[in-house]
Amino acid sequence: MKIAVLPGDGIGPEVTREALKVLDALALPQLTLFEGDVGGIAYKRHGHPLPAETLEMARAADAVLFGAVGDPECDTLPREYRPEQAILGLRSELGLFANLRPAAGFPGLEDLSPLKPELARGIDLLVVRELNGDVYFGDKGERDSAGGREGWDDMSYNEAEVRRIAHSAFRAAQKRRKKLTSVDKANVLETSRIWRETVIELAGEYPDVELDHMYVDNAAMQLVRSPGQFDVIVTGNLFGDILSDQASACVGSIGLLASASLGERTTEFGTFGLYEPIHGSAPDIAGQGKANPVAAILSLAMLLRHSLGRDADANRIERAVAASLSSEIRGADLGGSASTQEIGDAILRHLQAIA
Ligand code: NAD
Ligand code: IPM
Ligand code: MN
Repeated sequence: MKIAVLPGDGIGPEVTREALKVLDALALPQLTLFEGDVGGIAYKRHGHPLPAETLEMARAADAVLFGAVGDPECDTLPREYRPEQAILGLRSELGLFANLRPAAGFPGLEDLSPLKPELARGIDLLVVRELNGDVYFGDKGERDSAGGREGWDDMSYNEAEVRRIAHSAFRAAQKRRKKLTSVDKANVLETSRIWRETVIELAGEYPDVELDHMYVDNAAMQLVRSPGQFDVIVTGNLFGDILSDQASACVGSIGLLASASLGERTTEFGTFGLYEPIHGSAPDIAGQGKANPVAAILSLAMLLRHSLGRDADANRIERAVAASLSSEIRGADLGGSASTQEIGDAILRHLQAIA
């Protein structure tokens, strides 16, 4: 089993270190780790945020464990050299079109959420975010206009792109509470009109799944007003980015939410995938030991489940995280004072107790 570890920038390396401690404690047989540079650090060392060696390392692995990219010192670089291009490049080059972002409350830990306990208790949803299309990957540029320089970004989705993500979402719903909400802006956008019509066409193949549609503005409002109504949400790249950050705050913190990015490629042990927290490099707290490593550790659990076929280990990690949060070892993002390392150590202790 080969895992490519790409820690990246800011808190990326800090949270990835804790995930690797957990992985190490599992003592998996025949596991090889490879580590590569990605993001701002890769630009500074190799002149490119996604060096060819890093991409090849990711391709050759069974799974990629990714930290975060983004560096304020790189914010004025031409777009192709920005650290963010590395994660976008990995997602598209590796064909990872389905981004699963589960957001579930921890039972008994409703106090983590800024929502009322009766609302927080009901949160158990999965955002299925399309990851290879939308306004992210359309042509873009700058042109002159009567109003001065004008930036433009082409937003599009074709039926094939919508179909493959909708299939992933319907299948995910079948394994959960069988409710799918497709989120779009079909009252305004052509992209969304094709999206909605295509999702409706596919629904006939999944008669056991209840499908509804919601405009993205309403979805943002409903997520806060009554998050328990959602099971699986399927949406485009941009809306999924925004709604998943919002869902994380409903649970308690962006430092808690993991993600899996999957495509069609399978490996000897499962599905090839890239696993990362939904958060970024958090320059405001980088280097201070304040980052919550839970999202990175839960991303490792998703990696073990989806790419390495190690369900039991994944379950163990998830139970250890819940136990550790219950024992009130919490970071500043959750109103506590535990450091990144202390949170990692506490999860490790619980993991060993669960063995
Ligand atoms: P961010 O997710 O990095 O941070 C948003 C806020 O949440 C900050 O206040 C931060 O301190 C806090 N936060 C994030 N993760 C946390 C954690 N694990 N524990 C505690 N607090 C946490 O988003 P941003 O500030 O908008 O972006 C910063 C940089 O990260 C930018 O360069 C952006 O492009 C990049 N980014 C990268 C990814 C990725 O690598 N996939 C994702 C999002 C943002
Ligand atoms: C995320 C991030 C990325 C995205 C950025 C860094 C390109 O916000 O992974 O959620 O928008 O997809
Ligand atoms: Mn994001």
